[in-house]
Amino acid sequence: MSVTKKIDWSALRKDFPILDQKVHGKPLIYFDNAATSQKPRAVIDALVHYYERDNANVHRGIHELSNRATAGYEAARARAAKFINAKTVEEIIFTRGTTEGINLVASSWGAKNLKSGDVILLTEMEHHSNLVPWQLLAQRTGAKIAYVPVTGDEGLLDLSKPDSLLTKQVKIFSMVHISNSLGTVNPVAELCARARKLGIVTLVDGAQSAGHCPVDVQAIGCDFFAFSGHKICGPTGIGVLWGRQELLNAMPPYQGGGEMILSVAYQKTEFKPAPHRFEAGTPDISGPIGLHAAMDYLDAIGRENIWKHDQELANYAYEKLAALKNVRLFGPKPAVARASRPSASDLHHTGKMPVPLPGRAGLVSFLLKDVHAHDVVTLADQAGVALRGGHHCTQPLMHKLGVESTARASFYFYNTQAEVDRFVDVVKEIQKFFGQ
Ligand SMILES: Cc1ncc(COP(=O)(O)O)c(C=O)c1O
Repeated sequence: MSVTKKIDWSALRKDFPILDQKVHGKPLIYFDNAATSQKPRAVIDALVHYYERDNANVHRGIHELSNRATAGYEAARARAAKFINAKTVEEIIFTRGTTEGINLVASSWGAKNLKSGDVILLTEMEHHSNLVPWQLLAQRTGAKIAYVPVTGDEGLLDLSKPDSLLTKQVKIFSMVHISNSLGTVNPVAELCARARKLGIVTLVDGAQSAGHCPVDVQAIGCDFFAFSGHKICGPTGIGVLWGRQELLNAMPPYQGGGEMILSVAYQKTEFKPAPHRFEAGTPDISGPIGLHAAMDYLDAIGRENIWKHDQELANYAYEKLAALKNVRLFGPKPAVARASRPSASDLHHTGKMPVPLPGRAGLVSFLLKDVHAHDVVTLADQAGVALRGGHHCTQPLMHKLGVESTARASFYFYNTQAEVDRFVDVVKEIQKFFGQ
């Protein structure tokens, strides 16, 4: 693991005003970062500054405020391109989040390129947002959906029979980079390379990866990559869809309206090229501006450092929970994850940015014997610990694992080992409460 600089993690924590509070009389421990992250002062200030000084509509006015708003909006696009090493700025489309990015591809690319008998390949660990849009598309086109199986509780993709999955009927392979339910880091670069050889288009759901590790879409070798601002310290309601320019420009618009046209007549419209053809109507303007501040903030820390910190906390939490009786853990064991790596390093330095190797990311999903996940979360909340309990929008995966739900602790760089110790003590108290 290469660590580029020494970080004062506790100083960074002070950048997050929300963390400094008590919940039910106990200091807040926020372990629901996979659902949404907290926002640093720099992001809050960028939003306030925009609304206090620059607010106007973009790409329309010729007045000063509109020029400033447009400059801020387009600067955020350039920043997003750099954040994921896109080849060109035009490959960045602003969306409402990962969900909308995937829906855009399914609706636009899918409607043009899929027909009855074609296959959409997904994995069994997909979030509903990388599942339902494809089901809707399959219903519309007559295409079928196939799934790469998950091995079981350890939550790895079973890639033992790639040839039976990557058939010539497969037209698109859409896969999650990091599973929000299991913490599995999938070998997306390898999967995209295999798909590419067969001419299969690939989409990577980067909701859980973009803010936690370096992401280089060119090194991953995918065709589309989607992520959400709110999970990477940015505002809610803004996200990014990256796509290869040649694919984007061959796709029909997703929605029609203002901003996305070159000319309109009563019977016919000519559309702008990407990205504007996919951004109909007045966009979220403050969102990209807040997201810009978030990307600057994260990269000032260094996503390599964030990745190392997240993983250390998750591995520590996993080992501590594994040492307790009557705890069922999901996702790759830290030792298994480490053994599957070709080197001791967690990041693989190939392209412009290092990419995380397959393994375990910064979250732990678990169940206590005979205790419903919602009871774990409710009791943890009383102790000031914010967890998530439920199916995590991966209902088919839960069915496959034979459970209804799990409890999940998900970490970010502002979390500390002392918080993990407190969380594990709370888990022990819950077990005691249930007579275990
Ligand atoms: C893996 C994964 N994909 C997609 C999503 C959807 O993200 P959003 O709700 O921000 O669109 C999430 C959200 O939890 C996720 O964890």
